Amino acid sequence: MKKLIAVLLAGAMCVSIAACGSKAEEPAAAPAEAETPAEEEAAPEEEAKAPAEAGDSTAAGEVTTVAEGVLTMGTNAAFPPYEFYDGEEIVGIDAEIAGLLAEKLGLTLEIMDMDFSTIVTSVQSGGVDIGLAGMTVTEERLENVNFTDSYATGVQVIIVKEDSDIASADDLEGKLIGVQEGTTGHQYCAEDYGEENVLALPNGATAVQNLMQGAVDCVVIDEQPALSFVEANEGLKILDTEYVIEDYAAAVSKENPALLDALNAALKELKEDGSIQAILDKYIKAE
Ligand code: ARG
Repeated sequence: MKKLIAVLLAGAMCVSIAACGSKAEEPAAAPAEAETPAEEEAAPEEEAKAPAEAGDSTAAGEVTTVAEGVLTMGTNAAFPPYEFYDGEEIVGIDAEIAGLLAEKLGLTLEIMDMDFSTIVTSVQSGGVDIGLAGMTVTEERLENVNFTDSYATGVQVIIVKEDSDIASADDLEGKLIGVQEGTTGHQYCAEDYGEENVLALPNGATAVQNLMQGAVDCVVIDEQPALSFVEANEGLKILDTEYVIEDYAAAVSKENPALLDALNAALKELKEDGSIQAILDKYIKAE
């Protein structure tokens, strides 16, 4: 069921990406009137129209943000290569994409590090303008926030110790699974294996520490951070099974459709000129 939903959402995103790629630039139209993704979600065939109506990012001067002249991004910076600390600075795929989006919108980027489980609420309550955190588009989150078009694909994978007897998702029954609190991995594992078999930890790094210490039997987390954690910690491996495939996008308040349109227009340009792919390639090694 989850897999189906994830795949359906992925299908909807592809439609919109394909539409972006094939449509010629149209003159700027009134961005505020464009449809919101919540409506698009219900009627995916409508989605292809929305990005073109948003016009180009020169109209972005009109967007309102929580702090004037600033694009405030909420993230959880323990999620390499999407967001992590390099000294005092938060860097990574999402930080770089947000930097380019802010530039297109004529704004300065500010990044706020917070618990992953508080990002959606913070977008909703006007604490931040966008949530950009390797965040998966889910039906549940779409009830509370809008999402931009997707900029990357994620895969939930299972990390175990090298000598583990867990060989696939079928072996997780009755095991203790470490997850990052409030993530899709958390949600799926609780649904599939029962909340009592899940240990929710503040972030991916602590979940992996718990695995190293034998406090959990495995960790379910997104593939790219999993690869970073396995590289950094000896004696771990990633199972060869893809648990769930997902789409990452930026969360935006439902009350700020103009910002959503401006971000989608900017994202479209950054996809078309290859900037997004260049950032992904910089951080994600080809297999
Ligand atoms: N993709 C997963 C989700 O949306 C996990 C994201 C965790 N991101 C982070 N920056 N810690 O639930």
